[in-house]
Amino acid sequence: MKKFIIDADTGSDDAVAILLALLHPQTEVLGITVVSGNVPLAQGITNTLSTIEIAEQDVKVYAGAEKPLVRDYIEIHTLEEFTEHVKSLSPVSASAQSVHGVDGMGDIGIVSKSSKYEETGAVDYLIKTINNNPGEITLVTLGPLTNIALAIKKDPSISSKIDHCYVMGGTSDGTGNVSAAAEFNIWVDPEAAKIVFDSDLQLTMVGWDNSYKYAMLKEDEIEQLRSLNTKLADFSVDIQKVLINLTKEWYDFYGFDLPDPITMAIALDNSIIEESQDLHVIVDTRDGITRGQTIVDYFDIEDKNKNVRVITKSSNDKFMNMLLDLLS
Ligand code: BDR
Ligand code: CA
Repeated sequence: MKKFIIDADTGSDDAVAILLALLHPQTEVLGITVVSGNVPLAQGITNTLSTIEIAEQDVKVYAGAEKPLVRDYIEIHTLEEFTEHVKSLSPVSASAQSVHGVDGMGDIGIVSKSSKYEETGAVDYLIKTINNNPGEITLVTLGPLTNIALAIKKDPSISSKIDHCYVMGGTSDGTGNVSAAAEFNIWVDPEAAKIVFDSDLQLTMVGWDNSYKYAMLKEDEIEQLRSLNTKLADFSVDIQKVLINLTKEWYDFYGFDLPDPITMAIALDNSIIEESQDLHVIVDTRDGITRGQTIVDYFDIEDKNKNVRVITKSSNDKFMNMLLDLLS
């Protein structure tokens, strides 16, 4: 069994990613740490608990950072306000409730029966578990990198003790989903991302480009999931309600993309990777239009260490097969 720790800002796509790991037969999820991002921390914890419940599993959930390392964090519920906020180049970070729903789970009324989580923080849990399992932990991050940066700051030795870290964040092709330059998870806490990317962690970056290119579910794929007729498949589609409405408005088709699940799928099965390159990646922490950009040095202009395995192409078929297999 491979030992996984998941760090998530649980919203509608994190939930599906968590399900994949919980249901994968060769994987043991030791714990899930939560961070503010898509939704404020408390809501992220509730969403993580309801996801574990629906999978009928028993995994401990640890509360992490309520705000980014140095930036303030505010809740924004509408797309108009979010767009205005980003365009204002404010240094303040904001939630993605306009994309995932105010509750992060599509606002369809998901409730968690349990409110049991570990208040003793995510950071100490990460440090303790990694030190107790040197070379054995696969860490998968699905939200802003605040918890991981805080853990590395407190105990820098952990970064070389993690077997591998898969990051949903950044982009390999210069596209952004918050601003023209930045992907959400890195944009929320660029200072934390810089600490993580500059550490000696073995890092794989699954950027947002993989999501819109290889993990975009359209009518056919959604129909395939629905035809499984399982509560897990229905849950995975139902909670995308707000994102489905937005996708219709933006791109004029019925569908949604799954950034966190394709990252998790790659962490569970590297054969989903079709093309990757070891490259130097710089996180832009400056305020302004490029805040949170992942600058990928394809031509080695900087002549610096290759700190990241950058995924540039993944298999949509294999990803879909994993979803259908594990949610059945
Ligand atoms: C990432 O940001 C969040 O909205 C998603 O959960 C995903 O982790 C995509 O940019
Ligand atoms: Ca996420």
